[in-house]
Amino acid sequence: GAEVVINGSLSPAVVDRSNESIKHNIQPASSKWRHNQTLSLRIRKQILKFLDAEKDISVLKGTLKPGDIIHYIFDRDSTMNVSQNLYELLPRTSPLKNKHFGTCAIVGNSGVLLNSGCGQEIDAHSFVIRCNLAPVQEYARDVGLKTDLVTMNPSVIQRAFEDLVNATWREKLLQRLHSLNGSILWIPAFMARGGKERVEWVNELILKHHVNVRTAYPSLRLLHAVRGYWLTNKVHIKRPTTGLLMYTLATRFCNEIYLYGFWPFPLDQNQNPVKYHYYDSLKYGYTSQASPHTMPLEFKALKSLHEQGALKLTVGQCD
Ligand code: CTP
Repeated sequence: GAEVVINGSLSPAVVDRSNESIKHNIQPASSKWRHNQTLSLRIRKQILKFLDAEKDISVLKGTLKPGDIIHYIFDRDSTMNVSQNLYELLPRTSPLKNKHFGTCAIVGNSGVLLNSGCGQEIDAHSFVIRCNLAPVQEYARDVGLKTDLVTMNPSVIQRAFEDLVNATWREKLLQRLHSLNGSILWIPAFMARGGKERVEWVNELILKHHVNVRTAYPSLRLLHAVRGYWLTNKVHIKRPTTGLLMYTLATRFCNEIYLYGFWPFPLDQNQNPVKYHYYDSLKYGYTSQASPHTMPLEFKALKSLHEQGALKLTVGQCD
């Protein structure tokens, strides 16, 4: 099949505070955007050559047993043992088996969502994906409430739940997990060794309190497969962000894909300041040198796909 053209030169991932937001003006405007069905199908087919979201979304029970040794993807020399708890929580069948949705929302965590009024629009999609256990209740008007799948990097336990130092924080996390109410909780447990204990704490909490979530733990090959796909499209990503992983997976089971909260720049299209996250005080420096992510580069690729009608980016207010 024909190549998907994701144009643009490769620029360094450093955020240029002066004019980055102007360069990233989104065209066509929301009202003019049209879905390109042919292109979406072509992208789905291409991605299927690298990964199968139905399989790679989670390791299944049948493929591991307690005591098995896993090498961390980013720390090849470090290993973990599959614990009894982890084993218990592995799904028997893929949570995406035979799933197809008309329209899906992927909600990134950029502060661009604040005052967007996008909550209702987001909730109207058939399948809503959120990232890193971001809070919704207090921001419902702008981000909505519906959650069908939510990701949770182990680092979230440290950043948002004080590493569960006391009963109050454990209770907070527990409440958040209970509020998921049957949705898929996607935990990248095999990426980096730093998350070892945190994953175990969460697993334990879920089992002990019979939390109603469907846990999923991405396959060992997902990361490389996703990077491989984008590489063949000339997008050189060191470590894909959760947001990009979700888009890449969603192409498999979503007909139309709508992205909200993807805006890795400190100013919006009208030059107003934008928070890095809509819900906390994390700063932008975090995305540049220190982090292995290349969000602005990813954004450029997503923007190009928006222009071609393969996905729709919303970076302003919803009508
Ligand atoms: N995102 C964005 N612009 C921001 C913040 C986030 O486009 N200012 C997108 C990214 O795709 C990111 C996703 O929203 O992956 C979720 O945000 P966040 O929880 O901040 O992700 P990260 O902390 O970068 O974690 P990860 O390492 O999982 O990507």
